[in-house]
Amino acid sequence: MDFNFTEEQIAIRDTAKDFAENEIAPSSVERDIKAEFPFEIVKKMGEYGFMGMMVPPEWGGAGFDTISYVLAMEEISKVDASVGVIMSVNNSLVCYGIEKWGTEEQKERFLKPLAAGQLLGCFCLSEPEAGSDATQQRTIAEKDGDYFILNGIKNWITNGKNADVYFVMAATDKEKGYKGISTFLIDKDTPGLDTGVKEDKLGIRSSDTCSVSFTNLKVHKDQVLGSEGMGFKIAMETLNGGRIGIASQALGIAQASLEAAVKYSKQRKAFNAPISNLQAIQFKLSDMATNVDAARMLTLKSAYLKDQHKPYHKEAAMAKLLASKVAVNNALEAIQVHGGYGYVREYLVERYLRDAKITEIYEGTSEIQRIVISRELLRD
Ligand code: CAA
Repeated sequence: MDFNFTEEQIAIRDTAKDFAENEIAPSSVERDIKAEFPFEIVKKMGEYGFMGMMVPPEWGGAGFDTISYVLAMEEISKVDASVGVIMSVNNSLVCYGIEKWGTEEQKERFLKPLAAGQLLGCFCLSEPEAGSDATQQRTIAEKDGDYFILNGIKNWITNGKNADVYFVMAATDKEKGYKGISTFLIDKDTPGLDTGVKEDKLGIRSSDTCSVSFTNLKVHKDQVLGSEGMGFKIAMETLNGGRIGIASQALGIAQASLEAAVKYSKQRKAFNAPISNLQAIQFKLSDMATNVDAARMLTLKSAYLKDQHKPYHKEAAMAKLLASKVAVNNALEAIQVHGGYGYVREYLVERYLRDAKITEIYEGTSEIQRIVISRELLRD
């Protein structure tokens, strides 16, 4: 076992940290309040290679490994988890899928600009009545010669308002259940594609989330990813990697909460001394640090397995399950350490809690992660 990062991994982490502190942090409070999408930041992230980190350079990406991606995601999410999820969806859910199952033409048309950050992607699986039970797709794609005609609605779509490429799961053969679901790559300007109002969210407010509808949308069969009927498998495998991204996002929030609590506890005085002198505070900080490190080890392990082309879906589910819980707990404890100051906007810890909660919900709730893990444990 080697716990050392390579020089390249350290350089990527440091670049992400500098970028986050210099380019993202200055506007993060205002964007959270106004729920504003970080257009300029996302554009610059593309130039730095953060939007297609694991895609090979010949397809417009940076060609880094998953460990580097985890390190960069944590640094960026530590400063702004909204930017973290925009990055994670583009990298893990959209670029990964096209790289793995796309034809040369699809890679040229969609992957190259997505990985280079010139276009933004979104992943359309969830529906009003198909969230955790993702097999129940009501969006229908009916064959019409060389085309498919799509009708249906997707819900809770991260990047939905501002995406250029929609990675869409739809039922092409209802009779076949999940084996009759296919994936389509759809341009934003395709007639029949509409987005709903931007959701007014508790946290990650500067990322945009909305519904996406398809009304008699006509898409050529060349825009089917993989083959017809592969869509559920594509969605599941893509989400395995997505869970590493969300675990890393949660790590960033958990680490930010810890650092804020340490800093404040050294400044704030009570009983004639900094509150960091109190064992009640010291024990909280110790638990926060231990938990975030445990979650980081698990997240890095899942990334390592993915890089080694070994099965990693159980570890990715464990990483997301633990890291999301630690993010919520660390944010709560950071607020507790700050006392009343933690409950108002003057300090960032109230945002950390608002941002943390979604990591227990999207890309598979904590309950779904437990299903994924227990199925592996109980497999004959
Ligand atoms: N990896 C690879 N394949 C998988 C898989 C995984 N993790 N989970 C299931 N599959 C495959 C199975 O092997 C099976 O295929 P075969 O028959 O060929 O073997 C097929 O998928 C069906 O599997 P199940 O019978 O296990 O399906 P199920 O309905 O019992 O349960 C589930 C599957 C795990 C509950 C799944 O539905 C699931 O993960 N649900 C959560 C969905 C989710 O994460 N949604 C997030 C929305 S996207 C989002 O949040 C994005 C955003 O914008 C931020």
